Order: sequence, then structure tokens, then C-alpha cells
Amino acid sequence: MMQDYTPKTDALKDRVILVTGAGDGIGAVAAMTYARHGATVVLLGRTMFKLEKIYDAIKENGGPEPAIYPLNLEGASYKDYSDMASTIEAELGQLNGILHNAAILGEATPIKNYDIITWQRVLHVNLTAPFMLTQACLPLMQTSSDPRITFTMHRVENAYWGAYGVSKAALETFMKILADELENQAVTVNAICPGEVRSPMMNRAYPGKTPEDLPNIESIMNTYLYAMDPQIKSETGQILSATE
Ligand SMILES: NC(=O)c1ccc[n+]([C@@H]2O[C@H](COP(=O)([O-])OP(=O)(O)OC[C@H]3O[C@@H](n4cnc5c(N)ncnc54)[C@H](OP(=O)(O)O)[C@@H]3O)[C@@H](O)[C@H]2O)c1
Repeated sequence: MMQDYTPKTDALKDRVILVTGAGDGIGAVAAMTYARHGATVVLLGRTMFKLEKIYDAIKENGGPEPAIYPLNLEGASYKDYSDMASTIEAELGQLNGILHNAAILGEATPIKNYDIITWQRVLHVNLTAPFMLTQACLPLMQTSSDPRITFTMHRVENAYWGAYGVSKAALETFMKILADELENQAVTVNAICPGEVRSPMMNRAYPGKTPEDLPNIESIMNTYLYAMDPQIKSETGQILSATE
């Protein structure tokens, strides 16, 4: 049971975990948390100075040396993802986990006014990029022990959430299809619903809200560890709520 889960200090020792959007918000805290529990973390993101800050923080805390992989999911091609998988294999030898965390909000606009280019960008970053990255990394993951793929959900079906809400709903279905296809191949595929926590994205989504009114990101990290911990033989195709 996730509620009874207490991660061991070295729960992720010898694991290699790729975190997308690792420079800020939930991804940054997840990367540092995984490293604190022994993982070698591949920090993927689009803003180099933010990735370097997280790299330094992990080293200062005595974690295993992370790797920085600068990549903008908006412009990356399939070859970029397959080159990345080859680099991870050559440099680190394995890939045990992917946390698909990077996402963009797009606009808070009614559908009738929603800008088409923004719609396509949001669907690309939040849905097509995780698909391409997963497909490119699967062969390496399937030769690594106990592979785990974790997506990040957000169920928003009310007005003005536009392409973001649609992309997250589609990602949930994508996760379930992938989990079903890989069920007999020992790849665990799940999604985390983080709930609403204090992050740059939430500041942009609710500019009128006081950030301190939202829980901090550290408070949801148990679920992020649970999803990646090889000691936990969790079911596949599940949506794990970080706030229950
Ligand atoms: N915060 C919440 O309460 C909440 C609630 C439900 C779901 N979520 C989900 O949790 C995940 C993280 O959210 P967050 O609040 O931490 O968001 P955030 O604060 O905006 O951080 C997102 C990270 O993704 C990176 N990113 C965005 N577009 C990218 C691209 N094209 N290529 C590479 N990296 C890119 C960002 O890079 P830059 O730093 O360069 O911008 C940033 O580091 C998202 O999937 C979000 O939908 C969050």
C-alpha cells in the first residue's frame, strides 16, 4: 500500500533515472529526491543554467554524479531521442526509469479563441514528445533491470484549460495503452496525479493565488519514490494520487 510506504535511504541505489523538465518545479525536486535515495539522475530540460543549478545541488548533497541532457522537447526530432538513448547507454550503461514531467500550460482561453499554433505546441510538448521519447528509450529500458515509466497527470476538464487539459487526458490514455502492451514484458508503467502544489507552473495558472496557500513540492515526493522504487512490485497502468 502506498500509504504505508517509507522509502529506504538507498532505495534507488544503482538505478539510472531520466527526469524531463528537471530544471524547475516538481521535476527539479524529484531529481534531487531520486539522487538523495541513490539514483544517478539524467537531468533533461531546455534551460541550461537551471539544470546546472540542480546538478550542483545534487553534488553538494553528496548524491551520485548526475548527467545533464539539454533538450527542448518542442523542437526535438526522433533522432534526437534515439541519440539520447544511445548516449545514456554508452555513458551510464542502463536506463531504469523515466519520469515524464515536463509540460507547458498554453493559454487560459476559451476554445473559440484558442490560438492554433499554441494548441499544436502544447499537444506536442505534453503528448507527442513523451511518446517519441518513450519509443526511443524502450529498447534500452527493456535490457535494464525492473524498468519503470511514470507519466504526470492532471485532470482538468473545466473551461479555459484548452490544449493542456486535452493533452493530459490523452496522456492518461496513452499511459494505459502502453501499460497494457508491456504488461507481460516486465515494464511497469504508471502515472502520478501530483495534485496542486507550489511551482512556477501553478503561479502562472493561478496568478491571483498566494503560492504559500499551496502545499510544497517536497510533501508529494513519497509517491514519486514509490513509483520508481524497485522494491515495490506495484501494479502497472495505475494512476497514483500524491495527495491521498
Ligand atoms: N504544480 C502542480 O500543482 C501540478 C499539478 C498537476 C500536474 N502538474 C504536472 O506536473 C508536471 C510539472 O509541473 P510543474 O508545476 O513543476 O511545472 P513547471 O514549474 O512549469 O516546470 C516544468 C518544467 O518543464 C520544463 N519544460 C517545459 N517545456 C519544456 C520543453 N519544451 N523542453 C524541455 N523542458 C521543458 C520547464 O523548463 P524551464 O524551466 O526551462 O521552463 C520546467 O523545468 C507537469 O507535467 C504538470 O502538468 C503540476
